Order: sequence, then structure tokens, then C-alpha cells
Amino acid sequence: MEQIQSVQEMIKLRKSLDGHSVGFVPTMGALHQGHLELLKAARQENEKVVLSIFVNPTQFNNPSDFKNYPITLAEDLRMAQEAAVDFVLTPQYQDLYQDNYRFKMTENEFSKRLCGQYRPGHFEGVLSVVLKLLNIVRPEAAYFGEKDYQQYKLIKDMADTFFISSQIKMVETVRESSGLAMSSRNLRLSPEQKILAPKMYQVISQKISPDKAIEELQKLGFQVDYVEDHGDRRFAAAFLGDVRLIDNVKI
Ligand code: PAJ
Repeated sequence: MEQIQSVQEMIKLRKSLDGHSVGFVPTMGALHQGHLELLKAARQENEKVVLSIFVNPTQFNNPSDFKNYPITLAEDLRMAQEAAVDFVLTPQYQDLYQDNYRFKMTENEFSKRLCGQYRPGHFEGVLSVVLKLLNIVRPEAAYFGEKDYQQYKLIKDMADTFFISSQIKMVETVRESSGLAMSSRNLRLSPEQKILAPKMYQVISQKISPDKAIEELQKLGFQVDYVEDHGDRRFAAAFLGDVRLIDNVKI
């Protein structure tokens, strides 16, 4: 496994891989089993696997969430090696954002709903960085988790809209045995919050109205941003202390 820290180096390397299929998994690190499932799918379906680790500042609307985002690079590299990743891209902000974020990718409908309504600018940051990464890595397929379904759908629609040739694939949500969707932010839950956190999945999986689900979550001590049904899914976001949890289930 090779670690690549510069964008230019990655672009050069990608040229040398022309003719090989490349699977790509973009992440912000603090890897867990959810990320590993994406890497597994990428490994099964491609000759080469690229993982990126970059805590993307432009997608954090809350500075303290950015400041407190867990960073576990040494352990991430160990896990990546074990997952048979070929290349880990760990770029620097200045390298990726040479324009200091003068240009950004905007979507004006779905990105304004759900998480977008509560995190202004979040999806602009996500779409902008994913567009950059897709152009740098030029993968045959890029893998995203169902846990962040709104993100997956926006990336898929962006790729279609701008004729990006990479396939955008979705991998099922990986959960703890308690039902809690795995997330890097779970590392920041206190032991008491960790016991409470799986209730979010349990409550939104019940056949009750979104309003009733909000009421139940509030009673349990969650500070709820939203529980909403869209198409065939129910989406939820809520805080435990200052940790924001999101989840979604098929209904
Ligand atoms: P991050 O939160 O690190 O997640 C990286 C990828 O792992 C995303 O596609 C996410 O949906 C997926 N993932 C996270 N937890 C999962 C779980 N429990 N089950 C299945 N997949 C899971 O999402 C981001 O980073 C960033 O927004 C990024 C796309 C990298 C852009 O900066």
C-alpha cells in the first residue's frame, strides 16, 4: 500500500493505471466497519482500490464539529492495509482548494431539505470536494454509504448531470448489534449517550408518524433536528449533547 499526499502525484499515478479498473472510497477517516464494507465492495469489483482520507473543512457548518472531528490516521492506515487498499490519498487543504473555495458546486432542491436545511452550505462542501476527488482519481466506480443516503443521492445526481463517467454505487448501512448506525462521530459519545443512541434507529423503524417519532425521541433526551419521510425512506437527525447523529430506514 502506498500513501499519496499530493494531488499532482495522484493525477500522475492515475495516468499510469490507465487500462486498469479503479474503485474509489472517499472518507474523512476515523475508519470503522462501515467504511470497511465500502472498501470490500471496491476491492471485489476493481483491480485497484484508492481510499481518500480528508477531513473536508468546507462541509462543516459548525466550527466546533470540525475542530472535534476524530483523527486516527495511524490506525486508519493499518486498517486500510488490512483491507488490501492499494493507494491512500491524504491531500492537504491548499492542494485541493487552490482557489480557496472560490468555485463551488451547488444544488438547489434536495440539498436544501433534511440535513441541508439544518446545515447550510454542508452539501455544497460535500459536492465540491467529491467532484474534485472524482476528477483526480477518475475511478470506474466510487462507493458511498446508505447511512448518508441524501449525500449518496446528491452525488449520484451530480455525476449524471455533469456526465461524470464514474459509476456511483451505494453500500448498505452497517450497524452495531444494538442497531446504531456506525459513524466516526460515535467515538465522541459518552458511555451513557452510547446506550441511548441506538434508540434513534429503533424509534424511526416503528410504524408511527414522523411527529410521533419526534415526540418519542425528545422524551428519551434527543434534541431532534428532523424526522421526515421522503419517497420510500424515513430520515432522521438528532443531537445527543453536541454529537449529531443521522440515520434513515426504508419504509
Ligand atoms: P465519512 O463520514 O467518512 O464517510 C465516508 C463514506 O462512508 C460515506 O459514503 C458514508 O456514507 C460511508 N459510511 C459511513 N458510515 C457508514 C455505515 N455505518 N454504513 C455504511 N456506510 C457508511 O461521508 C463523508 O465521509 C464525506 O462527506 C465525504 C463523502 C468523504 C466527502 O468529504
